[in-house]
Amino acid sequence: MPRSGKAVELSLSLRRAVVVREAMADIRVIESTGVDRVAVDGIRNRLIALAADKELFPRSDFPVPQSNIGGQLYLLSQDSDGRFALYVQVVAGANSTPAHDHTTWAVIVGLEGQELNRVYDGHAEKGKPEVVSEYVVEHGTGIAFLPEDVHSIHIEDGSLNFHCYGLDLNALSERQYWSEDSNEWKYFKNKFDIIDART
Ligand SMILES: [Fe+2]
Repeated sequence: MPRSGKAVELSLSLRRAVVVREAMADIRVIESTGVDRVAVDGIRNRLIALAADKELFPRSDFPVPQSNIGGQLYLLSQDSDGRFALYVQVVAGANSTPAHDHTTWAVIVGLEGQELNRVYDGHAEKGKPEVVSEYVVEHGTGIAFLPEDVHSIHIEDGSLNFHCYGLDLNALSERQYWSEDSNEWKYFKNKFDIIDART
């Protein structure tokens, strides 16, 4: 007997929850030895493996609200103390950020579309950051940052990506960005509008 659409949907979200849980368990182990370049690259590689089956993360499950066409965050996993936060970020059209740090480790891994990452020298203790490299995140690839690393994001035509952080994005009150208008580093003030998509 054919399964109903609802049953198929339930199966997909449950399968997604299982693989996310497995990945985050592995990432806790990887991070337990300390936050360094090897660890964050290991987290990136584990999330690339999680993204391998794109069908578990269909764009239809992560719609962009009309009120937030610049991008929407969906929470897939987070520990009770706010650590190990995994989001899907979906962008419908163009979106970009100023150069910024995270004050915790951060990993971006592609599912759909292209997200250009510009990586900068220096950090928020210094003056104007200069671009030192560029990397396009797309399916099968990813990029990892230490807490003080500085990057900016540039999306031209939509994307669906994993964004994973050592801590709940809305708990990172010391994050800074480079303001081109005032030519100085400033603290982010806005909170993210995050949709809880945990099963
Ligand atoms: Fe970032």
